[in-house]
Amino acid sequence: MTAPRTLDVVVHALTPDGEGVLLVDLRPADAGTVLPPFDAGAHIDLHLGGLIRQYSLVGAADERDRYLVAVLRDPDGRGGSAAVHRLAVGDRLAISPPRNAFRPDPDADHSILIAGGIGVTPLVSMAETLHRRGDSFELHVYTRTPQSLPLQRHLDSRPWRDRVMLHFSAHGDGFRGRAQTVIPRPRPGRALYLCGPLGMIASATGCASALEWPRDSVRAEQFGRVRSVEAPGEAFTVVVASTGRELPVAPDETIAEALRRGGVETTLACEQGICGACLTPVLAGVPDHRDEVQSAAQREAGSLITVCCSRSLTPTLTLGI
Ligand code: FES
Repeated sequence: MTAPRTLDVVVHALTPDGEGVLLVDLRPADAGTVLPPFDAGAHIDLHLGGLIRQYSLVGAADERDRYLVAVLRDPDGRGGSAAVHRLAVGDRLAISPPRNAFRPDPDADHSILIAGGIGVTPLVSMAETLHRRGDSFELHVYTRTPQSLPLQRHLDSRPWRDRVMLHFSAHGDGFRGRAQTVIPRPRPGRALYLCGPLGMIASATGCASALEWPRDSVRAEQFGRVRSVEAPGEAFTVVVASTGRELPVAPDETIAEALRRGGVETTLACEQGICGACLTPVLAGVPDHRDEVQSAAQREAGSLITVCCSRSLTPTLTLGI
């Protein structure tokens, strides 16, 4: 694995847009250069001092002169959102090129986008793309109150504003306990995209599964630590294919930690199985996938593993590094 290159950007504008939400407009540090293209649902890493944090791109996928991210200040967070809220216009920072594990299905004829709170961010760029393609979609946003709705002004400015349905739990229209009334039955060509907190995603995916939605028609991105990341497992051995070196992975350590202990550099960002930065080729063995990045088909193929959190179902796992 090689470390991804970073891009230098400047904070061009900071716009509050919702309770505790800051819309950050990042432009290339070198005037005249353009930013790499991205697909709807993509995210970037922001390098914030010693922290690296992932944020979904909010803007239109064909914008090459700026990236927009929206960051909710989380007083109980790990410091990333507080660092973003301390940024000032003119600050320079490094970002990663966009990565994407949450793309819209190009073959869907109707997409249902359901967001909880700040989970609206990747779905905004998805809605933008679906609108530009002329595809049918609806975007449902669940928050506690109208005041806690993130990106109200941004949403109001979009030409697809009439596809947005707002739901406020304080007005008796929350998601909790009502997943069955919100998620329709599956049908060919219908796709479901979910982004929100862990509890909401668990309830929505449980409901979709009970309604027999095909697994590949449901894509979900969640906040918060992935439970399985913290669950220890059996010890196993990873083999570094380029050198033949064998490294034991203890029950309570990750593959990335074992590799680092053996002097093998890995690329890490979220360390929670949600960003895809550490995806590594698997040449032999069967991964025990514990990430939220890969689709069901990708997991089944077993050709990539997130070394920050996933483990092995076989005593040995050979990595293509
Ligand atoms: S570092 Fe983000 S998925 Fe592994």
